[in-house]
Amino acid sequence: MKITVKIKRQNSPDSAPFYQTIHRECDKETSVATLIREINAENISDIEGKPVEEISWECSCLQKKCGACAMRINGIPRLACDTKIAELKSKSVTLEPLKKFPVVRDLIVDRSVMRKNLLAIHNWLESEASQSEKNVDLAYDASRCIQCGCCLEVCPNFTAGESFFGAAAFVPASRILSQLPKGKKYDLVKEYGKHIYSGCGKSLSCHNICPVGIDIEHKLSNSNAVAVWKRFFK
Ligand code: SF4
Ligand code: SF4
Ligand code: FES
Repeated sequence: MKITVKIKRQNSPDSAPFYQTIHRECDKETSVATLIREINAENISDIEGKPVEEISWECSCLQKKCGACAMRINGIPRLACDTKIAELKSKSVTLEPLKKFPVVRDLIVDRSVMRKNLLAIHNWLESEASQSEKNVDLAYDASRCIQCGCCLEVCPNFTAGESFFGAAAFVPASRILSQLPKGKKYDLVKEYGKHIYSGCGKSLSCHNICPVGIDIEHKLSNSNAVAVWKRFFK
C-alpha cells in the first residue's frame, strides 16, 4: 500500500523541531520499527526533494521486551516494534517523540527520570522477598514493566522532574510492596504517599495504555491498599 510518513525531526536538544514528510510503498503487515529501518537503509528524499537524513530512534530487542522504541505513533504512545501499519487503519503515519521527556534527537528522548524516581521512592528489596500464593500473580505481572513511559505520556498529572511519579513508579512499587517482609515497608510507604498517592488524580487515563498489557488499575488499587490503608493486597 502507498502511505505518507510524517516524522518529527530535531537535530539536538536545543534546536527547533520540524516535520519531514515522505511517500512510501509498504506492506500493511510491516511494523513501524521495520518501516524506520527501511527508510534509514535507503537514500531517499522527502516530498520537497530534500534528502532524508538517518532518523535517530532507539531499539534493542524488537520483541516488546525493552521499551526503548516507545514513541507517539499517530498521536498515541506505542512501541514501534509492536505496531503494524495495518493496525493504524490509516494511510498516514505520523511519528513523534514522547512529549513528556526532553528530546535528545529526532525520536530519542531522555527517560532517565523514571530510574531516578524509582530510586527516590526506595523501590528495592533489602532482604529476601516475602513470596506466597497471595502475591505471586501480582508480583509477576508488575515485574513485566519495561519502563517504556507510555503510561506517563497519557497521564495528566505527570511532568518529568516534578513530585508525582505516575504509573511507571507505582507499578514496580506494587511488586515491592507485595514482597517486602512485614516491618520493612517504612521508607517505600512514606515515599509512596508523597510521590504517588497524593499526586494521582485517579483519572485512569492510563487505563489500557500499557503496551505489554499490565493491568495498571489493579496495581494502583493494590499498592494504595497496602501503602496507604495498610491493608493486604488482593
Ligand atoms: S490514574 Fe490518572 S493521574 Fe493516576 S497515574 Fe493514571 S493517568 Fe495518572
Ligand atoms: S506500566 Fe506499562 S506503560 Fe507504564 S512504563 Fe511500565 S510497561 Fe510502560
Ligand atoms: S525494541 Fe524493545 S520494545 Fe521495541
